[in-house]
Parts: sequence; C-alpha cells; structure tokens
Amino acid sequence: MALMVPEILVSDTAQQLAFNAAQWLVQQIQEHQQNQTRLFSLALAGGGTPKRLYELLASHSMASRLDWQRILLLWGDERNVPESHPDSNVRMARLSLIDHVPIPVKNVLYVPDSGGDPGQVADSYELLLRDRLPITAQGWPEIDCVLLGLGDDVHTASLFPQTIALQEKTRWVVANQVPKLACWRITLTFPAINAASRVAFLISGSSKSQSLDILWNGPRIAEQYPAQSVAPAVGILKFFVDRDALGTVQPPESWRLCRIDETK
Ligand code: 6PG
Repeated sequence: MALMVPEILVSDTAQQLAFNAAQWLVQQIQEHQQNQTRLFSLALAGGGTPKRLYELLASHSMASRLDWQRILLLWGDERNVPESHPDSNVRMARLSLIDHVPIPVKNVLYVPDSGGDPGQVADSYELLLRDRLPITAQGWPEIDCVLLGLGDDVHTASLFPQTIALQEKTRWVVANQVPKLACWRITLTFPAINAASRVAFLISGSSKSQSLDILWNGPRIAEQYPAQSVAPAVGILKFFVDRDALGTVQPPESWRLCRIDETK
C-alpha cells in the first residue's frame, strides 16, 4: 500500500493541466540535478494526453532550465509497432519532445525492434533497462518519474483489464496481448511502476470522469480496474486532472486536493 498521501492538482483546462504538469516535472528534475549526480530517469506515457506536456517541455522556456545530458528517457509502454507507425508512442514523443531538445541519443532508451516478436521485444527492452537504470534493494528499476494515462476502461500503461500482464510479479517489462484491441503491447509491470520515486497520472477530458471515479472510489477489483493497482511503495503519487475529467468526482477524503488556476 502506498505510504505517502496522494496529491491531486486540478487545472481549469487541458492546456493548463499540461502546463502545471510540465512545471512540476521541470521543478522535480531541477531539484534532482542540483542534488544528485545520477541521471534523472523519466518514463513517458503514450496516448494523446501527454503530447501537450511534451511540447511544453521542449519549449525553450522549460527545456533551457534542464541539463538534458543528465536525463534518461524511456517508455512506460509501447504499442508493438515500428517507430514509423502512426500509433507508435516513441514516434509521438520523438515528434513532440525528443527531436527538439539536446538530449544525447544514448540517453533515450528506445524499445528495441518494436514491431517484432513481442516476447523478444519485451526481453530486449527489459535487458536494456536493467543495463541502464539503478536497481532498488528489492530488485526493481529505480525510475525517478513514471508518467501514466488512464483509459476509459481504467487501464494504464498497457495494463488492460483481464490481461495476463496484470499478474506479473517478477518481470520489469512484459509483452501483453490485448484481445479487445487485437494487438500486442510492451509494458512496464505494476511492480516496476510501483518502485518509482514519483508516479504522475495525466487525466484530461470528460470521457475520463467515470474511469477516474472507479479508480478512486470504485470497488477494488484489480483484474477489472487495473489502474487501481498503481500504488508506489515509497514514491509519491500525483494526479494532474482537469475540470472536465474531475466533473463531480470526489477524491478519497484523506488525499490532498489542490485546485489551481481557479477562475475567480
Ligand atoms: C497508450 C498509453 C495508454 C494511455 C491511455 C490514455 O499507449 O495508449 O500508455 O495507457 O495512457 O489509454 O490515453 P489518452 O491520453 O489518449 O486518453
């Protein structure tokens, strides 16, 4: 069970959510870079919501505040398609962020041979992460920040309801067959995500209200509502939501709710 009280930051609009999340992330990375020598590892989320955040991170006003030589980028999940494919999470991050910042190629941990045999892709990606990331005393990757989205079916990363990957207890990365999408995905597992120092959900739009309510207040059914299994062991858990996504959803009482950009 997570040890620290999760924090919810509510923004007026999707653009403000992206700005607030980017500001927070830059501040976290700056603090890390002032106090630690090792690289700051950031696991990127896929889908559509994070794109604005990545574009803001790539903007001069934000990118210039960071030492990109000391940042390590990886993916929390990837569709098992070549990087050139329009569905590729790597492609989205490259176009919105990576191609616009001075990050050394060696600091970007691309999912190797994505689109190939899913099991082999997952094995190669895990080997790459094991080679480049620090490892916790419990044997998990010590990722400094994992960004996550939330699906309408309460999935996160590529951990979909009723799929095998939900049960994974030893691997960092697995290939996950997603029957409802008729595809394979490559994804960090829950133990790998929950070992992170920071986990931040980015949740925007009214279509997310129902899944957000289930995530926070629904019956605890991990198989059916996978994102409920995100509970950093010692790291912080943050939710960046916009008003449309929050709607009338009430967060759990003990959690910290911060409303920012409130129009007066
Ligand atoms: C992916 C993501 C996935 C995503 C959610 C929300 O590869 O699609 O990792 O988990 O974060 O489906 O997607 P949107 O941000 O597009 O709503």
